[in-house]
Amino acid sequence: MFKNINFAALILINMFKKIFRKADPEELGENFFKLINHDWMLVTAGTSENFNTMTASWGATGILWNKPIAVCFIRPQRYTYEFANREDFYTLSFFDHGHKEILNYCGTHSGRSVNKISKTGLTPIETPNGSISFEQSRLVIECRKLYADFLREEHFLVKKIVDQNYREKDFHKFFIGEITGCYEKT
Ligand SMILES: Cc1cc2nc3c(=O)[nH]c(=O)nc-3n(C[C@H](O)[C@H](O)[C@H](O)COP(=O)(O)O)c2cc1C
Repeated sequence: MFKNINFAALILINMFKKIFRKADPEELGENFFKLINHDWMLVTAGTSENFNTMTASWGATGILWNKPIAVCFIRPQRYTYEFANREDFYTLSFFDHGHKEILNYCGTHSGRSVNKISKTGLTPIETPNGSISFEQSRLVIECRKLYADFLREEHFLVKKIVDQNYREKDFHKFFIGEITGCYEKT
């Protein structure tokens, strides 16, 4: 049931389907404008062997190439960026309001220097395709990367956005992922 990763975090294995039920993205009834912007989400990439997670409040869900997709935007200095770049899948995890402090922690500390799992009490759980989310999530979106690229300075049509958001020229890389699984807490 549990897998011990580096003696630092216990990961729930083979438990996902007992805790979450599969949902049709079209039937969700969620407001992703509000969810992403105000509730925030954890972007997690990696496997039970090695993963990292960070808070994100920029992103999107929609339809592209006739598929349900989600997009996240990750600056290259994030430790999570290394995992998102390397792995084929990532997850987006959403929580109820009681977990805001945890999300704030995961958005202000890097997995390079702290163990976010032991610091927050999050319980990693392996999703059906071997990605990682958290037992405390209320909604989990599994994504398979389809397309990734950096935002490019020369392509901004409103230059003020560059001045306001990219003083360090650390342009986000965006990851467009096909939503391969959408799960709600039972
Ligand atoms: C509310 C909130 C939203 C954030 N949104 C993003 C985002 O969309 N993209 C991003 O690259 N960083 C975002 N961050 C910053 C990362 O979460 C933060 O730098 C984190 O410590 C990175 O962790 P890591 O180095 O372990 O990957 C956000 C932080 C907070 C607090």
